[in-house]
Amino acid sequence: MEFMDVVRKRKSVRKYKKDAVPKDMILKVLEAARLAPSAANRQPWHFIVVTDADTKAKMELSPWAAEAPVVIVGCADSTASPSWYLNDLMIAFEHLVLAATDLGLGTCWMGRMGRDEKLKEVLGIPANVKVVAITPLGYPDEEPAGRPRKSLEEFVHWGHF
Ligand SMILES: Cc1cc2nc3c(=O)[nH]c(=O)nc-3n(C[C@H](O)[C@H](O)[C@H](O)COP(=O)(O)O)c2cc1C
Repeated sequence: MEFMDVVRKRKSVRKYKKDAVPKDMILKVLEAARLAPSAANRQPWHFIVVTDADTKAKMELSPWAAEAPVVIVGCADSTASPSWYLNDLMIAFEHLVLAATDLGLGTCWMGRMGRDEKLKEVLGIPANVKVVAITPLGYPDEEPAGRPRKSLEEFVHWGHF
């Protein structure tokens, strides 16, 4: 797909088919994350791919998210890049999300900042690794209407604010 078509097609999907996602597709979206830029190239990210139903049930996700065949938890090692770990993870996560869109898969960004202790326990995430974002991954079972966006005139400032 053309890049701008991928960008336009991506929408937050909150209803998924039960069909399993082939492992090679999961690997492709992870490869897109792997190639993301990061401050000083420290690549502080970790991605946990969860497909087990019991584990998903323990993650305290919204029911629609837990029903997706795959849930990907994006984490970052705050000691590996103390100033930039959040930025780096989020950039890599968006690479992953756009790659999923290109493959016809649905995703939905979910921020988890500050309420992840139970999740860290369930997934065995070490103390220095922060959960930053989560997305379900699967074949969409809905076609979400696009949410509104500001016009360029509302946020682009040519030369000065
Ligand atoms: C950092 C971040 C956190 C989000 N957290 C949630 C969330 O917890 N639950 C949810 O349903 N959607 C969440 N969203 C999705 C937004 O609601 C969605 O991106 C926005 O409304 C625009 O809609 P669209 O993604 O379909 O274009 C989040 C998005 C971002 C970028």
